[in-house]
Amino acid sequence: YKRITVKSLVDMKARGEKISMLTAYDYTMAKIVDGSGVDVILVGDSASNVMAGHETTLPITLDQMIYHASSVVRAIERSLVVVDLPFGTYQSDPKEALRSAIRIMKESGGHAVKMEGGKEIKESIKRILNAGIPVMGHLGLTPQSIYKFGTYTVRAKEEQEALQLKEDALMLERAGCFAIVLEKIPAKLAEEVAKSVSIPIIGIGAGNGVDGQVLVTHDMIGMTHEFNPRFLRRYMNLYEDMTKACSQYKDDVKSGDFPSDNEQY
Ligand code: KIV
Ligand code: NA
Repeated sequence: YKRITVKSLVDMKARGEKISMLTAYDYTMAKIVDGSGVDVILVGDSASNVMAGHETTLPITLDQMIYHASSVVRAIERSLVVVDLPFGTYQSDPKEALRSAIRIMKESGGHAVKMEGGKEIKESIKRILNAGIPVMGHLGLTPQSIYKFGTYTVRAKEEQEALQLKEDALMLERAGCFAIVLEKIPAKLAEEVAKSVSIPIIGIGAGNGVDGQVLVTHDMIGMTHEFNPRFLRRYMNLYEDMTKACSQYKDDVKSGDFPSDNEQY
């Protein structure tokens, strides 16, 4: 395979090829996602919810993100690996932000970092980019700020917030980010942003007028089942299938059906 780089993604946008991105937090999942030909693997801080069972993304630590990311990196042959900088590791000052990003790059082997926010974190983004670390932006619904907003509903429906989002996207492009995730905003606004910048816009709940899509793999394969936003397309119902498999196994153990003559030494 030819490895995907940040440059491949910008080239894909230029020639109108859509970009596919999915999450992974561990080796086994990353092997499957990479082998399937998906362009970008996001080691998302959604691991806080999906892997650790926290209610929000806030508690996950830099060490935990590095553990997830290094497991993913060991599995991949082709995909670009982007790692979320977790809450509290880049908001206080640019030097700390750079230290956090450097730890991710050195200790996990990931290829880029993702950071939530616009003008508030501009100086941190610039410092990280100056060190040669590619940065993916993330605007719209930014789960690390959930306590500021109070809900996970659609963002930037009001004119003021929409204008700010457009400005932030332009700022991220000018600063040198290689792509931006737009989460849960009106499709029309997302399309306008995608047309206004030359870097790829990857949407989640941001409609079809953008340059690529991202979903949380555990949601997309139906391994989780209590999270049902409109934007989620489920390609499997693994929650049901795995429950059936575990239950069948339990029955087989209880009845003495497992192991059979062929399944022993
Ligand atoms: O953490 C994550 O999975 C994300 C995606 C939903 C974009 O940031
Ligand atoms: Na995230």
